[in-house]
Amino acid sequence: MARLPAIALLASAALPGALAWGAMGHETVAYIASNFVSSATKTYFQDLLGDTSANYLASVAAWADSYRYTSAGSFSAPFHYIDANDSPPSACGVDYARDCGAAGCIVSALQNYTSILLDGRYSAANHQIAAKMIIHFAGDIGQPLHCEALDVGGNSIDVVYDGEDTNLHAIWDSDIPESISGGSSLASAKSWATTLTTAINSGEYKSQAASWLTGLSVATAAIQQATALKWAAEANAYVCSTVLQGGVAAVENKELSGAYTTTADPVVKLQIAKQGYRLAKYLDAIVAAA
Ligand SMILES: *[C@@H]1O[C@H](CO)[C@@H](O)[C@H](O)[C@H]1NC(C)=O
Repeated sequence: MARLPAIALLASAALPGALAWGAMGHETVAYIASNFVSSATKTYFQDLLGDTSANYLASVAAWADSYRYTSAGSFSAPFHYIDANDSPPSACGVDYARDCGAAGCIVSALQNYTSILLDGRYSAANHQIAAKMIIHFAGDIGQPLHCEALDVGGNSIDVVYDGEDTNLHAIWDSDIPESISGGSSLASAKSWATTLTTAINSGEYKSQAASWLTGLSVATAAIQQATALKWAAEANAYVCSTVLQGGVAAVENKELSGAYTTTADPVVKLQIAKQGYRLAKYLDAIVAAA
């Protein structure tokens, strides 16, 4: 969830499952990643995170959403998004110089935490935080409304979902993903990840999965930034093609659990699958370079 006014943040932070991509979406991305990492990567992150279970990535995937609401972690709130100042639905696009604010954004944060993880001068505790940030932001950057400035990334566009008042950002974070996976639990995430892993290995994504990795590299800070910027631009394009296809008036105060969700579903599935697969290969690249 991006950029709500303080009062709204307090209220929504108290609601389980109200945090971005919701926890379930992040856990799904993490489970998909754990299905594709190399054995060296698995060992590296199980050691770093002190967790030898199969949930070693999934169980930390939503941590950054609690950390941002603590006083120690409030500096990291802008790291969850990039405010693309484009004009959906007629023109989409991300411009790093224009859109990544002075306090940082999801693109600079992915670069920063990648550099920290690759730098042996940082402590294990700092490496652990960096890993948890990367696992989280690799998910958020695939959510189109985390790469959009308009109406606070859709947070201030009121909509109705299954009869409940909510906002456009929240339904992309949680309601639509949960309507696909069947719930908000870790078990829902795990089973959705299994479905999407099969789609990548032998199903509808098989022919395109390799192309998702184009440009993926951690070789230099500039390349880390370019990798993240490419992911952000791709997610942002869906704001024009799908999220706000008919403009704000087409969604504002409307019930979106029907036809709108049917149209959104393939984009949500693709973005979760893609970011999970990318996260696996990104973590592999970090371990290879560390
Ligand atoms: C990089 O991460 C560190 C550790 O969380 C943080 O203190 C610093 O502000 C970040 N720098 C940038 C440029 O985001």
